[in-house]
Amino acid sequence: MVVNIRERIIPITEIEQSAFCQSDEELRSKPLAEEFQAGVQWQKLPVSYMKMSPDELDARIAEARAALGQKLVILGHHYQRNEIIKYADLRGDSFKLSQYAASQDEAEHIVFCGVHFMAETADILSTPNQSVTLPNLTAGCSMADMAKIDDVLDCWDDLQDVLGNDEIIPITYMNSTASIKALCGRNGGIVCTSSNAPATFEWALAQDKRVLFLPDQHLGRNTGLKMGIGLEDMLVWSPFKPLGGHTEHALRQAKLLLWEGHCSVHTRFTVAQIVLARKQYPDVNVVVHPECVMEVVEAADYDGSTEYIIRAVTDSPAGSVWAIGTEISLVNRLAAENPDKTVFCLDAVVCPCSTMYRIHPAYLSWVLDGLNEGVIVNRIEVDEPTAEHARIALDRMLSVV
Ligand code: 13P
Ligand code: SF4
Repeated sequence: MVVNIRERIIPITEIEQSAFCQSDEELRSKPLAEEFQAGVQWQKLPVSYMKMSPDELDARIAEARAALGQKLVILGHHYQRNEIIKYADLRGDSFKLSQYAASQDEAEHIVFCGVHFMAETADILSTPNQSVTLPNLTAGCSMADMAKIDDVLDCWDDLQDVLGNDEIIPITYMNSTASIKALCGRNGGIVCTSSNAPATFEWALAQDKRVLFLPDQHLGRNTGLKMGIGLEDMLVWSPFKPLGGHTEHALRQAKLLLWEGHCSVHTRFTVAQIVLARKQYPDVNVVVHPECVMEVVEAADYDGSTEYIIRAVTDSPAGSVWAIGTEISLVNRLAAENPDKTVFCLDAVVCPCSTMYRIHPAYLSWVLDGLNEGVIVNRIEVDEPTAEHARIALDRMLSVV
């Protein structure tokens, strides 16, 4: 058994989380050089792109995009800035975007406006002759950063030692590295997203095994509860403590092991915010993302993926009131697109996901100009042995739901 005590390191992406928090609701892009003044550690670009105004960049992106025609598809996650999402050929949650990457093979180039694990997944699921580009290579995810493959491998080895082989199924949230998806593929496990986590739990529990869920303890706990697993049957696995912080006996008793990870955007939402929203608007509908803590999900009326949240608001009658617990770029967009409804964020402080926010228009302009010149910059390529096993876990997800 490997006994390993690791130092707790807060991911740089989480430290940066508050850099763009504001108390008003304007999140309009500034020239990239000005955004760098917040002290962030983003990928450097040629000076000419750093200085361009948002209007100059917009015109330049439109021209470059038109020149690329059918050779290019731009995918955009719902948390992207407005100045980016307007160029997305397809917008979606991480499930919809992965389905799209798996099903279309016409475009030569996929530019993924989202975060690193999403671009990796698109590369794994697309054909070998398609390129996948992430406009800013530092656009990661602080939650995904909380599960390092070496720590996960140690955890997996410990669990095999304590429980015996083939007694536990690994389920990894899409928000994880390709290497963790590959570990799941090699060991009878599966990938899930926030829109299909219950279906993947059902699939695993039907095999009468325990589950190791990575890396978001909150999505894992919220889903476990929905599937009838009691809190007394769940344990949080800390990568910083021997045996995750538990005795062998406790590990043998548990049905669901939750990796100690979280989303720094969604854990900002509180029950007090929901109480306040209900006081201000007695007929309010509260919808939150399942990465929120259990108490918030329980106090809300609904919970679901970004796509679910969009559908809930869009399909509701005029005059309805919505308090939303998810990333602010999406909430602001929903408010603008539903002027006949009252739509607001549960948290009065406006905090974008700092890593989604790293896709500034200057990066999109730079990568499109490169493609027009025949140069693929910021290509995301997962090595084939890793991709092969990760694909198994992703394909299981695509066939289960
Ligand atoms: P969705 O799959 O719901 O879009 O969520 C992805 C994500 O990163 C939420 O924080
Ligand atoms: Fe990661 Fe949270 Fe940002 Fe989603 S919102 S990409 S989980 S940090």
